[in-house]
Amino acid sequence: MTCEEIIAEIKEKALKERVPIMEDEGLDYLCSFLKEHEITSLLEVGTAVGYSSIVMAYRNPQLHIMTLEQDEERYREAVNNIARCNMQDRITAINTNAREYETDMVFDVIFLDGPKAHNQQLFERFEKNLNEKGYFIIDDVYFHGFLEQPEQLRSRRLKKLVGKLEEFIKNMMSNPDYRCTYLKIGDGVLVAARKENTTDE
Ligand SMILES: C[S@@+](CC[C@H](N)C(=O)[O-])C[C@H]1O[C@@H](n2cnc3c(N)ncnc32)[C@H](O)[C@@H]1O
Repeated sequence: MTCEEIIAEIKEKALKERVPIMEDEGLDYLCSFLKEHEITSLLEVGTAVGYSSIVMAYRNPQLHIMTLEQDEERYREAVNNIARCNMQDRITAINTNAREYETDMVFDVIFLDGPKAHNQQLFERFEKNLNEKGYFIIDDVYFHGFLEQPEQLRSRRLKKLVGKLEEFIKNMMSNPDYRCTYLKIGDGVLVAARKENTTDE
């Protein structure tokens, strides 16, 4: 089987089993972004079964990824999928709660696709791990359109989550250290570039 065929199989199985994975549009954007900015290291929060990591690494041969997943079963499946694509040298999956995980490593991109209600905490935890020319990229900030139509929300839990996402976006947009772009791609992507290092300021 080719890596492309394995990727298609991973995606099909994830969709069938309702494992949340990135939408095509968001993932295509992310892969192009990584290529355009010649990114070589990325920390991902939220591996699930390794789908987005494998696609990013496949489309960007210079890229090394560390990816964190707290669910043991998903982590095991991700490790297996990474091995099937022979990407063990470029993708390191770690079974951990990202909200408590500590590392000294520094990354060009930190990609948050884990617990949506904790983006602010994850941003604060991993800011020290961002390369001075780095970017935070956060997926799902549009949250199925609910961010713009909060009146559609019935459950209190979802209302709280959307409120937290809204607050997080507001905080990021007003953070003087970052230049943020909010893109309505896939389920909404927020790109935050450290200001002092951007050349197009
Ligand atoms: C949207 S899925 C990730 C999808 C994956 N990036 C992809 O596109 O293939 C989010 C994942 O984050 C994991 N997660 C949730 N809270 C976490 C935490 N505190 N630490 C690590 N992983 C967490 C969930 O178990 C879930 O598998």
